[in-house]
Amino acid sequence: MNILLLGANGQVGWELRRALAPLGRLVALDRSGANLEQPDTLAAVVDQYRPAAIVNAAAYTAVDRAEGDAARARSVNAEAVAALAAAAARHGAWLVHYSTDYVFDGAKPAPYLETDPTCPVSVYGSTKLEGELAIAAAGCRHLVVRTSWVFAARGGNFAKTMLRLAREREELKVVADQVGAPTGAEFIADATALMLYRLAHDADLAARASGIYHLTGSGAVSWYDYARLVIERARAAGAPLRVDAARVLPIATADYPTPARRPANSRLDCSKLAAVFGIHPPAWEVQVARLVDELVAPQ
Ligand SMILES: NC(=O)c1ccc[n+]([C@@H]2O[C@H](COP(=O)([O-])OP(=O)(O)OC[C@H]3O[C@@H](n4cnc5c(N)ncnc54)[C@H](OP(=O)(O)O)[C@@H]3O)[C@@H](O)[C@H]2O)c1
Repeated sequence: MNILLLGANGQVGWELRRALAPLGRLVALDRSGANLEQPDTLAAVVDQYRPAAIVNAAAYTAVDRAEGDAARARSVNAEAVAALAAAAARHGAWLVHYSTDYVFDGAKPAPYLETDPTCPVSVYGSTKLEGELAIAAAGCRHLVVRTSWVFAARGGNFAKTMLRLAREREELKVVADQVGAPTGAEFIADATALMLYRLAHDADLAARASGIYHLTGSGAVSWYDYARLVIERARAAGAPLRVDAARVLPIATADYPTPARRPANSRLDCSKLAAVFGIHPPAWEVQVARLVDELVAPQ
């Protein structure tokens, strides 16, 4: 299988370089090879490599910055995605694209299904939803993979920020009334590779699998309890942190104002992924424990 990977230096993109490599010929491009701020240039990039699958891990992911930078966020998250979807349709290629829990407003008191109505409350979420809709409109075969609270050893994320702050400060205040599922980039990449492998080898599945999938760690946690677990695990592994779990204090979203609003409930129901592809996400704690061990445990 010929695969074109975009955004190859991001958290997910970096893990995809490893996970997709065994599937065939992989061309992995970063911003210098495919700039999503220039949507008009992307058709030629796709034409050059003639992939059977385009995997787009590039995105404008700075949620708060996007509030004041909507045009750039829209170019990367929506207009470029529309261009990729059109190119995928022309080539008969699969488009694998990642989206987010932030397409929802978080008001539902249960995990979100793929079929639930969307209602983004931020510029980032709105532009990601525009990207999803552009893919559906283009008519290409696609996997739109909505995930949440992504972390990896490489790249910036909440867990790494908590570890840094726990070294620098005496006490941490963390939001306790937003709930979601941390998801390892490694798992996202491995699951993507498995989905593509199955599509390439099962024509019946390929004929019916195009669509949106929720894919997160299993279980759910607040940012506050997530921070406590990261810090406890890191201290147990010998990390020299000034803050221990008892000095992580819960606060409300209202006490931590940010430019972008975030959903209170980010939980995504992943049962469609299990039913269609037989993929059962590991518990978020297992994935996070692996991250912390990788970051702080002696090798
Ligand atoms: N991070 C999360 O918590 C989270 C949650 C839900 C969904 N998602 C979705 O999951 C996907 C992967 O996210 P991630 O965590 O891997 O994000 P990430 O680590 O921020 O990586 C995003 C990548 O996109 C690249 N990029 C940004 N603007 C670009 C442009 N104009 N042209 C080309 N590349 C560009 C970045 O390149 P540079 O390195 O050059 O900046 C970076 O390598 C995204 O679709 C995101 O929306 C993420």
